[in-house]
Amino acid sequence: MRGRWWQEGVVYQIYPRSFRDSNGDGIGDLRGIVEKLDYIASLGVDIVWLNPIYASPNEDNGYDISDYDAIMDEFGTMADFQALLDGLHARGLRLVMDLVVNHSSDRHPWFVESRSSRTSPLRDFYIWKPGHAGGPPNNWKSVFGGPAWKLDPDSGEYYLHLFAPGQPDLNWENPELRQRVFAMMRRWFDRGIDGFRMDTINLISKDQSFRDLGADEAIISAGAPYINGPRVHEYIRAIRTEVLDRYDSMSVGECPGTTPTTALDYVGFDRRELDMLFQFELMELDYEGGDKWRHRRFALPDFKRCVERWQRALHGRGWNSVYLMNHDQPRSVSRFGDDGRWRVESARTLLMHLLSLGGTPYVYQGEEIGMTNVAFPSIGDYRDIEILNHFAEWSSSGRSIEEIMASIHRMGRDNARTPMQWDATAHAGFSAARPWIAVNQNYASINVAAAEADRNSILAFFRAMTAFRRAHPSLVYGGFELLGAEDRECFAYRREDGSEALLVALNFSPKSIERDFGRGLVPLLSTYPPSGSQGWPAPTAGTAEGGSIPGSASVSRAAASEAAGVELRPWEGIVFAAG
Ligand code: GLC
Ligand code: CA
Repeated sequence: MRGRWWQEGVVYQIYPRSFRDSNGDGIGDLRGIVEKLDYIASLGVDIVWLNPIYASPNEDNGYDISDYDAIMDEFGTMADFQALLDGLHARGLRLVMDLVVNHSSDRHPWFVESRSSRTSPLRDFYIWKPGHAGGPPNNWKSVFGGPAWKLDPDSGEYYLHLFAPGQPDLNWENPELRQRVFAMMRRWFDRGIDGFRMDTINLISKDQSFRDLGADEAIISAGAPYINGPRVHEYIRAIRTEVLDRYDSMSVGECPGTTPTTALDYVGFDRRELDMLFQFELMELDYEGGDKWRHRRFALPDFKRCVERWQRALHGRGWNSVYLMNHDQPRSVSRFGDDGRWRVESARTLLMHLLSLGGTPYVYQGEEIGMTNVAFPSIGDYRDIEILNHFAEWSSSGRSIEEIMASIHRMGRDNARTPMQWDATAHAGFSAARPWIAVNQNYASINVAAAEADRNSILAFFRAMTAFRRAHPSLVYGGFELLGAEDRECFAYRREDGSEALLVALNFSPKSIERDFGRGLVPLLSTYPPSGSQGWPAPTAGTAEGGSIPGSASVSRAAASEAAGVELRPWEGIVFAAG
């Protein structure tokens, strides 16, 4: 299975609320994205994924949808949406939308009707249960804190919400509900979109026993009675035959709690379910006991083994997706790189890593300029429901403010949601007004305009790297062989496919290191700019055979020191042709 557009493409994720505000109300919008279409196209990406843009009361920034067929007022109109879609397609880019159908908003007319009485014809569209022993039906907890059940006093029953109370879970057991979801998906494909990113899609089938979680079972854990539930594959196959197969579509499922083995049940080429999924094992390396707010240190070998496990398990059997951050995660350079002295170097090397892995890479807005985490001084500066609930929970358990704020600075989702930093003018060029969430004060130096003016910027390297990946399909399709698994500074791997073999060597440390990978390596691309500051040249076809990039310091040094090994400067990455 090769050659599909979603296999060879690079995805650029846009969080519309924070990308660009076109009308000066402090909230990013669809016209704002339209203004930036040429910028997006200039990156060398192929596919845009938009976080939810549907009508929503915004308890969870659009992941609580009150009308699946309407655009959120703050984001614009259906005409603006069409302008965005047409603008993307005119530039050869595809559009993937978020699909949030594990739950709706509690203001969705379905839920309003469902809650109106126990005999409502839509009662069964949601999951209603009587209480148990004077409390909720079972002990399930919400991902955002507190119980996962809320009592509706009028009917005396509880409804399930695995996320916020304003996000009641839909009941996929109901065939009429499923048909309505499929019809809605087809309407969006008929409007012209190219695919869906499916929010928490492996949670849609609940084990009908509704058994309690065991004392040692985390909310999101492989065995929980709503993760990879009994009918989930039946439902996803129905999505495939009823919707996806009727279009030239892409599908990617957000699947917390999956392992490479359970992932293949969704994305195996023989399964006819999803094209790919987002796994969480890499994102949970620094969780202590499965809890994101409790930090665990990890070493480079742990990171490498996780990448290796997924790259190898899915190779030839299914399709990987790779990401280092998204709108739910801290900034990648702050978490996996060094956002201080080596910010520029480490951000470039993380991008080389991401774009030299098998599968489809996802890059998040601002990652291409090395945007960093933010550390707002006060809880009042934060907006995310998960952060606010966490603050309340840890405060009531007696933790110190310093400890709570440190956990938020490290892991909070708002790290990724501060406005895109376009230039050094007020509000980072994001908006003419005060934005809905404050900008990161480092915008004065970290911004797109500054990066555009610098031929050696992270942005310039990112463009060179997307072009390099396009010229080297072995990076997309090749096998993955990890070298030096226990090396705590160097992450090196071979990518081999058909006639081409590449070696990627990445220095994940702030000092110069030297490693011996054998003879015959020809350096093709370094994350350090070629000497003479001309910026990275566009790769020419046949670079793999054609030899080294002219004028690159590391390239000539490495070539000259063939026998002695390869030198990598602090946080430097190099891709070599390896015979
Ligand atoms: C997914 C989304 C996240 C949202 C949650 C509930 O994890 O990525 O942003 O809060 O689902 O919809
Ligand atoms: Ca706006």
